[in-house]
Amino acid sequence: MACEELRTLEARCAGCRKCPLGETRTKLVFGVGTAPSELMLVGEGPGEQEDLQGEPFVGPAGRLLDDMLEMIGLDRSRIYIANTVKCRPPHNRDPQEEEMAACRPWLDEQIALVRPKFIVCLGRIAAGELIRKDFRITREHGQWFERDGIRYMAIYHPSALLRDVAKRPETFADLRELRRVLRRESGYYKE
Ligand code: URA
Repeated sequence: MACEELRTLEARCAGCRKCPLGETRTKLVFGVGTAPSELMLVGEGPGEQEDLQGEPFVGPAGRLLDDMLEMIGLDRSRIYIANTVKCRPPHNRDPQEEEMAACRPWLDEQIALVRPKFIVCLGRIAAGELIRKDFRITREHGQWFERDGIRYMAIYHPSALLRDVAKRPETFADLRELRRVLRRESGYYKE
């Protein structure tokens, strides 16, 4: 039911021209996974491969994200993954404030349909959008924040982990913390 409603929402989103990104993208990158889902991941915006394939996190960062999920016994079919903006910003630049604001209602509707207990923000941009404007990823990654009954955590973006392997041990610790809480408070690890 929620999956079906997400498909309807995606079809509406495909016609969205509330910001200029809709004109330059190849494919809409709406989201992937299952709904309802206790865990939702939110990234920044589609890159080149995502733009070509229409699915979030399918490029090099996506392969690392799949490995990170595997580390905690999950995969993308059991959770839901979306981005703050659904269309690729040209040349992989950061999405602008106005673009994220224009796209926010789609994300809010996705969250309402997915009904996650936990949202993990992938990187500073998603954390700034969903947790707090002045979020400091270097200081605050791995910490829990609660808002409107949803618990949020931010971790380094997989692209940042590709660029700087020194950040990986901290991210592995954050993932272990996520798994600890999911073991206690979700159905993911129950037989
Ligand atoms: N980076 C993101 O933030 N999202 C994607 O979908 C791909 C790369």
